[in-house]
Amino acid sequence: MAIVEWSESLSVGNHQIDDDHRQLFRLLDRLKAAMKQGQANAVMGGILDELVGYTVTHFQREEQFMRRIGYADFAAHKAEHDKLIAQVQDLQARFRSGSITLSISTHQFLGDWLNTHIMQSDMKLAKALASAA
Ligand SMILES: [Fe+2]
Repeated sequence: MAIVEWSESLSVGNHQIDDDHRQLFRLLDRLKAAMKQGQANAVMGGILDELVGYTVTHFQREEQFMRRIGYADFAAHKAEHDKLIAQVQDLQARFRSGSITLSISTHQFLGDWLNTHIMQSDMKLAKALASAA
């Protein structure tokens, strides 16, 4: 189980992508704090909405970068993004309808996903961006 926190070891060397990743980890941290404090569903729902919204924005930014350089792994990378978006939107819908509550395992899942995706896919993308610059 990886630690859900941004650190230099997660830096891909592209400041816009790194800034986005830091922001996503900050939102995950706020979500965890809200859970720990037993905040109302409305508060957690608000943070979850921000997290989903920022994830969409961030993925679009990466996909724009990929298109700009004609990235060879575009389809595979975008497929990872699309799958995660579908998962979090489903989570958001189920949370809103009251059929699930958010738990620390949800938080851990999102943190683990982000860690793995950054280390495997975003590192590769950032290298391609650097060499295309
Ligand atoms: Fe990505």
